[in-house]
Amino acid sequence: MIDNKTIVLTGASSGIGFEVLKLLAQGKGNRILAVARHVDNIKYFADNVTAWPCDISTQAGVDALFRKAEELFGKIDLFYANAGFPYYEEFNYTDWDRIDAMFRTNTISPIYTYAKYIAHLNGREGILAYTVSAIGEMAMPGYAIYSSSKFALNGFQQAIRMEKPDNLQITCLYPVATDTNFFKVANAVEFEKPFPVQKPSTVAKKMVKGIEEGAERVSPCGLFGLSKVLMGALPPVKTVYLNMEKAKLERFKQKLSQYHNRLHADAAAAVEHGRELGSQIREKNREVVGELEEKAEKVRGELEEKAAKAREEIKDRIHGV
Ligand SMILES: NC(=O)c1ccc[n+]([C@@H]2O[C@H](COP(=O)([O-])OP(=O)(O)OC[C@H]3O[C@@H](n4cnc5c(N)ncnc54)[C@H](OP(=O)(O)O)[C@@H]3O)[C@@H](O)[C@H]2O)c1
Repeated sequence: MIDNKTIVLTGASSGIGFEVLKLLAQGKGNRILAVARHVDNIKYFADNVTAWPCDISTQAGVDALFRKAEELFGKIDLFYANAGFPYYEEFNYTDWDRIDAMFRTNTISPIYTYAKYIAHLNGREGILAYTVSAIGEMAMPGYAIYSSSKFALNGFQQAIRMEKPDNLQITCLYPVATDTNFFKVANAVEFEKPFPVQKPSTVAKKMVKGIEEGAERVSPCGLFGLSKVLMGALPPVKTVYLNMEKAKLERFKQKLSQYHNRLHADAAAAVEHGRELGSQIREKNREVVGELEEKAEKVRGELEEKAAKAREEIKDRIHGV
């Protein structure tokens, strides 16, 4: 159990981060600054948890987070940079901002956090934890941008271990597919998760234990470690596995194109419906205008009749006089 620590945890509102939050909040004397962009569900989580909304994908966000933590705790004993997100897609577009958004959150922010944390520690002891990904070690079809963002983070942690001061422990987590909001965020259209899938509570338990024991890396799925060895020794096993994942992407692309076709058909039907409504309205307008004109004609006739009568009466009166 991790006790008596001041902790910053990003991505604390959901999935792996939320399960880690539950475990850390139980530690005696722990005080936690729990961060996500939306923190409504963790606002009243526990007395030792301060929920704070922050977008860690910007320099201003990370700087503000360090200021907030220093204000609350003075020293940060453990900084767990867990927040991240994926896309599941065929990479076939030229959209700089989309690529940039992923790298800012998954790669640049945790790298920048390292530099901030080293400066914050100023020689004191501290622990930096990262949620990398199994996909940061083995690229997968459908996750080109996500894989590269996590490969980059993995490369950074490998390199920085050779430079980092002794007062800093770095513990990295390499989960396989974990049943969190991750897959809902990745694409609006449902797709098949990579095999195997773990529970976030299992992943969180292993990571908290790894941090406590000073592990450099935590691979919560034994099968992934085994399969890496197997795939290294027998490359055809890797080919078979990746072909299965490629087939999933092909099925997803078909589903996506059906979804887009449905959207187009719905949009076309909506336009047709709009046209029909328009012509009905115009027809109704014509009817109403016709009725009004008829009424106006009738009223005009009646008024003219009354006016003629009035003229007759006046004439009669004049002649009568
Ligand atoms: N689930 C998996 O299969 C899997 C596998 C390997 C690695 N991972 C990694 O595990 C980590 C946690 O993901 P998860 O699976 O637990 O997904 P999740 O359930 O979607 O949780 C993601 C968390 O990160 C927060 N977040 C996202 N962008 C943020 C930003 N710009 N600023 C602050 N907070 C942000 C989210 O809250 P808001 O949206 O409110 O900000 C949420 O609390 C990620 O780094 C992910 O890449 C996941």
